[in-house]
Amino acid sequence: MDHFERRAGALCCEDVPLGRIVEAVGAPVYVYSTATLERHFRVFGEALRAHPALGRPLIAYAVKANSNQSVIATLARLGAGADTVSGGEIARALAAGVPAQKIVFSGVGKTQAEIAQALLAGILQINVESEPELETVAAIAAERRESARVAIRVNPDIVAGGHAKVETGAAASKFGVALADAERLYALAARHPWLEPAGLACHIGSQITGLAPLEKAFRRLRQLGDGLAAAGLAVPRYDLGGGLGAPYFQQPDPPGPSALADLAARVFAGAQADFIFEPGRVIAANAGALVSRVILIHQRPDGRRIAVLDAGMNDLVRPALYDAYHDIRPVITRAGAPSPYDVVGPVCESGDTFARERPLPPLAAGDLVAFMTAGAYGAVMASEYNSRPLVPEVLVRGASFAVVRPRGAVEEMIAREPLAPWLGGG
Ligand code: LLP
Repeated sequence: MDHFERRAGALCCEDVPLGRIVEAVGAPVYVYSTATLERHFRVFGEALRAHPALGRPLIAYAVKANSNQSVIATLARLGAGADTVSGGEIARALAAGVPAQKIVFSGVGKTQAEIAQALLAGILQINVESEPELETVAAIAAERRESARVAIRVNPDIVAGGHAKVETGAAASKFGVALADAERLYALAARHPWLEPAGLACHIGSQITGLAPLEKAFRRLRQLGDGLAAAGLAVPRYDLGGGLGAPYFQQPDPPGPSALADLAARVFAGAQADFIFEPGRVIAANAGALVSRVILIHQRPDGRRIAVLDAGMNDLVRPALYDAYHDIRPVITRAGAPSPYDVVGPVCESGDTFARERPLPPLAAGDLVAFMTAGAYGAVMASEYNSRPLVPEVLVRGASFAVVRPRGAVEEMIAREPLAPWLGGG
């Protein structure tokens, strides 16, 4: 459930009409709902806490989904931890008030500087994804003479069924340690004087809409953990990753957090460990919309109508990159029967097409439309391609709203790029 709804004909975020935000900030603009973020986080937490088998569950929000400082801070206040994949994300999470002890660091290519940063900050655990990485963490920890908590991220060799570009758990993907190597690496960590094995981790993909692949992955992780325990190696924590799909309009409905929690509790019954979950999309996606203005409508000789918007693929890349479907709603609906529109952005690429032949109520130049379910992997994936400044972000709370990232400016873009000295630069 989200808090975007039509009131007196106008699409609102909580108690604020989207049109009012555009009057104040201009278009395009990303708009986030505090109530929705909070609701999604609470529902996820309640689902987990219903199961004593899950120990003291930590929800390490995957900040890559939406790393705006105010979004992270909203969740941090409710007790969220953070799943991070770069030094930048660790810094963001700390700056937004996530305690270091609730931060997990994942990713296949952590640099030495990032590993040192994580250890210095005293984060909860580093999810190690390969043997060379384990050696690097060990070397840095030894040099610092301070032990490093490491979990081994396992590649359970499972096809999760989402878009191929966001699959992470298949053997062919670049992520995680092969099941066959995991036990040896865990034992290696246990023997090392400066490594503290903190548990096992897996994450098999994103926008997962069925429990079956998750169940398989969890079972493989459990089996591995039981094997380690039998060999006298404790597994104090299981990090079960993120990946639970969010409901996108007219797309396959994913299971909810309670189905995920039930599954985890069933598979890990009696494991006597703590559990980490790393939801990103399911928390943030439906908490955000991208509001854009129709620049013009033009009609092709074949009758096709093209609505050209002021938002482009640089602002919301998911349709271009993953053929993702985002519901498009007029902010104020004009009377008249829906008819098909191609909805495109202004960027000079054919891929800058948000939807083809999408049935929409009548649109005219100047109208505002909202891309729904854009709170996750929206603003964070934006770029300045075509020298288009980044879109501002606004956070709504009840009847109030605040600009939580101002619109970028072209002057700022140019100022960031000093001319080389031989071209007249200083
Ligand atoms: N944990 C790890 C280690 C991850 O790599 C990810 C996402 C998550 C958690 C959070 O997954 P979620 O709950 O959000 O599915 N840009 C793509 C999605 C990429 C997901 C990458 N990893 C998209 O727009 O669909």
